[in-house]
Amino acid sequence: MLPYERKVLKGLQGLNSYLGDYKLKKNSGAMKTVYVLLLAIIITGATVGVGVWYFTRPIPANVLEIYHWWTSGGESAAINALVNVFQSKYPNVSVIQSPVAGGAGYVFKSVIKPLVLAGEAPDAFQLHAGYEMKPYVDGGYLDPINDLWSSEGFESVFPAVVKDMVNFSGNYYAVPVNIHRPNVVWYNKHILDANGISASITTWGDFFAACDILKQNTTLTSPISLGDQGPWAATHVLEQLMVSEGIDFYQDFINGKITVATNSQLNDALTKFAKYLNYTNDNHGTLTWDQATAMLISGKSAFNIMGDWANGEFLKAGAVYGVDYGTFPVPGTSNIYGLVVDCFEHPKGVKHPDNSLNWLKVVGSKDGQNAFNPLKGSISARTDLTDSDKALYGPYQKAAIADFKAATYMYPSTVHGSGMPESFTAKLDNIISALVDSSRNKDSTAAVSAAAASLTGAVTAASSDFVKVWKLH
Ligand code: GAL
Repeated sequence: MLPYERKVLKGLQGLNSYLGDYKLKKNSGAMKTVYVLLLAIIITGATVGVGVWYFTRPIPANVLEIYHWWTSGGESAAINALVNVFQSKYPNVSVIQSPVAGGAGYVFKSVIKPLVLAGEAPDAFQLHAGYEMKPYVDGGYLDPINDLWSSEGFESVFPAVVKDMVNFSGNYYAVPVNIHRPNVVWYNKHILDANGISASITTWGDFFAACDILKQNTTLTSPISLGDQGPWAATHVLEQLMVSEGIDFYQDFINGKITVATNSQLNDALTKFAKYLNYTNDNHGTLTWDQATAMLISGKSAFNIMGDWANGEFLKAGAVYGVDYGTFPVPGTSNIYGLVVDCFEHPKGVKHPDNSLNWLKVVGSKDGQNAFNPLKGSISARTDLTDSDKALYGPYQKAAIADFKAATYMYPSTVHGSGMPESFTAKLDNIISALVDSSRNKDSTAAVSAAAASLTGAVTAASSDFVKVWKLH
């Protein structure tokens, strides 16, 4: 007997004995009628109650579980907006977000991999396009989603360069939600104006000259802010310096061809990196990337090199582009647009396969991308945005959409998963962290040579994994 039924029976027994006593006392026929009527009402009520309970009882939830690393202010605003679009289309599905804090997924990646390998993949998880997907594809942990790509018309709306990054042996394995630009310098406009510094900076010479002026300004913590508690944030800067050596050099680098430690462009990039560090805050190793962006917002630093997810932080803080802050491309990269492409996929054997596929539809849809990207700082990965779609984006992103269209070259980011094999990138942050420690505010010559040797050694060690030949022009 169910607890509910037990309660009803007990209630009936109690009432029966009460009415029974009453009947003995009065022994009246009229009371008998009352007794029967009351009993009928109670039985009817109990039957209706059980029926109502049955049809309204909580049933096991219909769930979509997604994993990602978007936990900063701008990032979580953006993913929540995307989830809201999903929930407006699928109101009966409860979405469980399992975020793992740590920019660029530097913690997340070590959490998700064992789950997927153990057959415990969530219904979808955040993943960068390109090489980062390869171990999952090669291991058979993702289902091809060609049918979804054709039913949603994705083939004709995503740029060729992005399609290529999520296609392995002719099969699509992921849906891109955005394109972030990594080669951006962010600046606090009030500080540059107050120090007579023009933001039309196109060379490293001009950039470092501006930093020298700002170094004299004692109201600043540092000319440049850096938050490399997650070591990728320092490596991110180095990547942009590698690109600024020229697209051919970067192409050789990601194709695994820079294997000689004395390579002059490699050494030049590392030397500039060591110099850059001398203008950064002493507490850089204790700050996250978004705390470094916050130093610009609060006026403690003037410059920060970061991908345009930083725009989400400025927006969240209410800063106004062109008034409070601005951007210019990393010196030497003005006609170049780096690619950081966030995706979701359909892991094999997920618990809620239909919800997983429906999530991917929303991720690739105009509605989804137009809700997510204006808050995230990225541009939509779709090429079919109309003027009214574009009106949903802020001034930084409107400019980024135009820059993307006009770019002479594009390159896949290495730090953000796409450009180089994991066997190399797994060592990259350690090499760059060692360089940060050994060169910042010190004589950096030996440290640069050591880093060049480690980097080229790591490229050589991973040589058999460079299976993709990138052609950047
Ligand atoms: C990147 C990711 C971005 C942003 C950033 C900082 O790797 O592609 O979407 O979240 O990390 O966490």
